[in-house]
Amino acid sequence: MTIGDGAGVLRFPDGFGWGVATASYQIEGGVREGGRGESIWDRFAHTEGKVLGGDTGDVACDHYHRYREDVALMAELGVTHYRFSLAWPRLQPDGSGALDAAGLDFYSRLIDELLAADIVPWVTLYHWDLPQRLEDAGGWPERDTAHRFAEYAARVHEALADRVRHWTTLNEPWCAAFLGYAEGRHAPGRQDHAAAFRAAHHLLLGHGLAVRDMRANQRDSTFGITLNLYPVDPASDTEQDRDVARRIDGLMNRLFLDPLLRGGYPTDVLGDVAPVLDTSHIRADDEQIIGQPLDFLGVNYYTRHVVAAGPQPKVWSPGQPASPWVGSSDMINVKRGLPTTDMGWEVDPAGLHEVLTRLHREYGPIPLHVTENGAAYPDEPDSAGQVRDPDRVRYLEQHFRIAHQAIADGIDLRGYFVWTLLDNFEWAWGYTKRFGLVHVDYPTQRRTPKDSARWFARAARNNGFEVRERNEDH
Ligand code: FCB
Repeated sequence: MTIGDGAGVLRFPDGFGWGVATASYQIEGGVREGGRGESIWDRFAHTEGKVLGGDTGDVACDHYHRYREDVALMAELGVTHYRFSLAWPRLQPDGSGALDAAGLDFYSRLIDELLAADIVPWVTLYHWDLPQRLEDAGGWPERDTAHRFAEYAARVHEALADRVRHWTTLNEPWCAAFLGYAEGRHAPGRQDHAAAFRAAHHLLLGHGLAVRDMRANQRDSTFGITLNLYPVDPASDTEQDRDVARRIDGLMNRLFLDPLLRGGYPTDVLGDVAPVLDTSHIRADDEQIIGQPLDFLGVNYYTRHVVAAGPQPKVWSPGQPASPWVGSSDMINVKRGLPTTDMGWEVDPAGLHEVLTRLHREYGPIPLHVTENGAAYPDEPDSAGQVRDPDRVRYLEQHFRIAHQAIADGIDLRGYFVWTLLDNFEWAWGYTKRFGLVHVDYPTQRRTPKDSARWFARAARNNGFEVRERNEDH
């Protein structure tokens, strides 16, 4: 695809959100501060062999104690919107009942600090740190967890909606359900396909119940959800490859988009998973609850999947650990030789355009926000103490150009949150992957803005940036 027709300045619409995103367990630390209860990520990270190097979020970026410094940093970087998540077990240590005063006070102080710095707080209620007590009672595969989530959401909304306008229920329910309950690569580390599908449904149901209950207490709030979305292309035009692409697109994208925005699950996907899915947990009114009207959709975009039929036949059964999506034995995830980030993810900015266009065409009209996009590279300070990260600068330039193009194409894209403000705890990879605009030296907790932070700051201040190449092909 050819973007733009020459050098010049790409300006974004007035009010465009120049944001950064983080998540509670990845940056906060302070896991025993206040009345905070244990989360599934505390338990998982402290289980031997689950996280690279035995890393945990016990201290992370110590943001719990350094949030003032971090908000000041954001202000310096020209950040207009800050997407962060609330740790459920900090607010409800056991996953139900009254909110913990110390936990609420922490978020309340953070929000005040943001507002004083003229930064819009963009709250995510669930970014994967389920109270361990709820997992002990069965976790997301149990319907009651959806009700617990709605209760938590309503209480927190009641407490903070006077200062927080934008509410995201869940971050990436696909990851929470499938990486957590089928692959076991994320907390709680279970390997059970049937449990993962039940989890996906109850996450969506929890979202719907939460939006319904929070909206009943409206107060000028906007409600949405964040999904990780990908274009999924067949590697060839054979019927087998096209069917694998249909199935993977179904599991990763449509299983979530369709009930949220079209009122029901895609029937082909339900057919695909029939061998492992006893659908009796999907009750008559559930799809209607899940399909609550939304004020925005958050899109996390990192890469594209190109898939081909694999050598093994499709065999899924309850309790079987192999994954029924990217990486399963009956399919191949084809690499195209594009540059990759430190995660091994191919850099494919055009894929973002495809995702946004598809949403606009097939699921619109709905205001969109890119709620995560960014890249890990192994950045370290040079001898002068500077962190040079030209790969990330280029990555951001390419993806923000796509965002600009999407807006020019008439897509209602209102903001863009870079993943992420600070290098942080990258889940099963521990501290080995650095996604931050700002470098963190973990032993000293020193923060050093990278070159990409300066690029971002300039772009945010100018509400746009200069395009350096002419007629770049992506
Ligand atoms: C997303 C997660 C986020 C971060 C990025 C790299 O899937 O939402 O927490 O780990 O990936």
